[in-house]
Amino acid sequence: MNSNEINSNLRESKPQWLIADLRSDHAGETGAIWIYQGILLTASEDAVKEFAKNHLTTELSHLEKIESFLDKKDRSVLIPLWKILGFLTGALPSIFGSRAVFATISAVESFVVRHYQLQIHRLQNENIHPVICSALQTCCNDEAKHESEATSLLLSQPGNLLCMWCRLVSAGSKIAVKLARVI
Ligand SMILES: [Fe+2]
Ligand SMILES: [Fe+2]
Repeated sequence: MNSNEINSNLRESKPQWLIADLRSDHAGETGAIWIYQGILLTASEDAVKEFAKNHLTTELSHLEKIESFLDKKDRSVLIPLWKILGFLTGALPSIFGSRAVFATISAVESFVVRHYQLQIHRLQNENIHPVICSALQTCCNDEAKHESEATSLLLSQPGNLLCMWCRLVSAGSKIAVKLARVI
């Protein structure tokens, strides 16, 4: 696909469900950036800092991609809230050490992979917006790498308290997506 075809593909009107999904993606990638910034601010271990720094670079590129597909007027008005919640989701576990960070990231990223997969399947089924679909696939592949890296660094199953925190993070992510799709 040449650049003219890509541009005309992006100008194609988007169904309302896709705008809502992209708004949630934009909110999610903003939150992800702040998760890793929260970790970087509070982490004491070099391995965790390196991990967060690398992931942050990828999340910045994801946000840039999503921003290119979503008009400013269509973005979530709750962006300041997604930033604060993202920051807390990274900074809080980071105070407790690397295992808490890796467990949290594993939970967040596995949620994000499923979130992107749903949109990719719908775009493929409806055979629309191949440029957006392929960009979401790239993001999804990166998130899967983030998840597997976090899971492998975790080494063993988290304890009860950490499991509870991860369930809270997953449930919170679900609510955040629902809200960001509409507001
Ligand atoms: Fe991302
Ligand atoms: Fe990620």
